[in-house]
Amino acid sequence: MRTPIIAGNWKMHKTISEAIETVSHLKEKIKNVKGREVIVAPPFTAISEVSRVLKDTFIAVSAQNIHWEVKGAFTGEVSPIMVKDAGAEFVIIGHSERRQYFGETNETVNKKIKAALKQGLKVILCIGESLEQRESGQTFQVLEEELKKGLFEIKSDGIESIVIAYEPIWAIGTGKTATPEIAEEAHKFIRDYISKIFNKDIGEKIRILYGGSVKPTNISDLMDMEDIDGALVGGASLDPDTFAEIVQFK
Ligand code: PGA
Repeated sequence: MRTPIIAGNWKMHKTISEAIETVSHLKEKIKNVKGREVIVAPPFTAISEVSRVLKDTFIAVSAQNIHWEVKGAFTGEVSPIMVKDAGAEFVIIGHSERRQYFGETNETVNKKIKAALKQGLKVILCIGESLEQRESGQTFQVLEEELKKGLFEIKSDGIESIVIAYEPIWAIGTGKTATPEIAEEAHKFIRDYISKIFNKDIGEKIRILYGGSVKPTNISDLMDMEDIDGALVGGASLDPDTFAEIVQFK
């Protein structure tokens, strides 16, 4: 049995005080929830305060990005040691917005994953195809390439600290969710590929989240699918009531 994970990616939203208010409310709302892992990913500036509020709860904190070096002359960057020090247990790596707007490549994704694992951070690795790639029949090829290059030289003990998020780019922030069947097909492909490059046991254990316009109204149908183990939620994670509803899917 794979424990479901519901993760909220706040992107570039919320000041420190807004973040504190959100998680204070959220932790009350879901304090009796069992059998689920919950993660929130605030912007860098709010990680330490959010971690303080969530101390002694089951809600974990994630960063949304890191640099691959631990320190140095890299103006504007934040290292894995720094986010861990601020209280993050996870880091999101390879989000399509980073790939699209900030030059993230499969090679930098791989460097960042290695750096995160080295510092004891767990990783949420995002992969997914664009609309153009889907329409031209390249979905599986894109997913395979992102996994192959992103996980280059990652060993079996490393993969155990990685969660994969399948996020079709055409479904992110667009209100257009992949149907549960379309998502399941991709998730199955990802699980089979992980089984192939690692082993069957790892393939069975790895959690694969779906991301892209997840809402309280579509989470249950997605979670009914065999290979969907949770969700990475953007827009609908900003409001603690809505996010709590998603966490408590039936
Ligand atoms: P969305 O974002 O839920 O707003 O579509 C998902 C994501 O980018 O992780």
